[in-house]
Amino acid sequence: MATTSRKRIGVLTSGGDCPGLNAVIRGVAKAAGQLGYDCIGFLKGYEGLIEPVTFVPLTAKNTTGILHQGGTILGSTNKGRFVAKSGVDDRVQIDPEILDAARMTVEQLDLAGLVCIGGDGSLSIAQQFHEMGLPVVGVPKTIDNDLSATAFTFGFDSAVACATDALDRLHTTACSHERTMVLEVMGRHAGWIALHAGIAGGGDVILIPEIPWTFEHVCHKILDRESKGKRFTLIVVAEGAVLPTGNLVAREPSSNGKGQMRLGGIGETVAREIQDRLHRETRCVVLGHLQRGGPPTTFDRVLATQFGAHAVRLVHHQRFGEMICYQPPEISSVPIREAVSRLSMVDAQSSAVQAARALGISFGDRDVNESPFSTPTANVAAEPLAAIEAEFVGH
Ligand code: F6P
Repeated sequence: MATTSRKRIGVLTSGGDCPGLNAVIRGVAKAAGQLGYDCIGFLKGYEGLIEPVTFVPLTAKNTTGILHQGGTILGSTNKGRFVAKSGVDDRVQIDPEILDAARMTVEQLDLAGLVCIGGDGSLSIAQQFHEMGLPVVGVPKTIDNDLSATAFTFGFDSAVACATDALDRLHTTACSHERTMVLEVMGRHAGWIALHAGIAGGGDVILIPEIPWTFEHVCHKILDRESKGKRFTLIVVAEGAVLPTGNLVAREPSSNGKGQMRLGGIGETVAREIQDRLHRETRCVVLGHLQRGGPPTTFDRVLATQFGAHAVRLVHHQRFGEMICYQPPEISSVPIREAVSRLSMVDAQSSAVQAARALGISFGDRDVNESPFSTPTANVAAEPLAAIEAEFVGH
């Protein structure tokens, strides 16, 4: 079915990149073409909407061959001039002149819809566009998998695959040298990557923000393994795991100027402490941005392609202010406002955590002999990001 006059759909990628962005762009371009829309891609995220306005035509032809490519052909910016002038991460207050400039671009280009692909911060900007009356549709992306409205975000599976591969590699060298290896993974304030990679990669200890842990329990686990003849241990620690002192470990402790802490470094702290306490050789690997690069997994390609196609469908039906989400087995949508208001955290009582415990994986919170089926200690319920970070400001 074609529209009578050819209208345009715009698309942009904002915030940190992740595998699968190009698959969404391709999905949008191809689905838009099928419905008779022209498609344009704004460069460098929201920046492309304002002076100098920069965009490129996207067609079925020029998006062919990008499905499997990591990164984004449109480039991205972490907020840039759309940075909050006041307020915090989950409710940004952008300079009204910048917002007006973006509005003018959308109107002058006569966009039937603007597809904004981003994480919670970028989608908060999309929400403000929506409140201004712009025809916006959101597509969630993040390796962290921390958006509560969607069961999975594309990029997560690829990041987990990368972390799992790292664990597979660490496993053999840890075994050869009888060492404890600590792998620090990303995920911000959620432990999804650590949990899934820890299970998939045969981790022995998984430390995540949602489950309070102690060094005593971690060390007991290492000694327990030794008593069973296993002279190496693999520890996966989420960058946002909270130290027993109650502190987060951050590279830029308070804020990176974008309303977010730049987390990182906990792996070294954990490795050092274990080495000091047990006098065992311990090494740390920080996986970092490797988790965000490279080709998307099959799962992420399928999810991202569906997100792109459904975003066009929402535009076509003028369902603005909504964000695509995956509520298995279907792709659906929810108001963007709802989607960005709460983080999705690992449930300490979830079947994944229970299965890990049943296999003997330690979360650093229990005695090694304690039943894996006893009631878990604590769980951090889904919280707005700002509330979580505010709690740690000053640590
Ligand atoms: O949100 C995605 C993410 O990769 C987090 O896991 C990580 O904490 C952060 O972004 C890193 O951001 P940057 O690329 O700005 O260092």
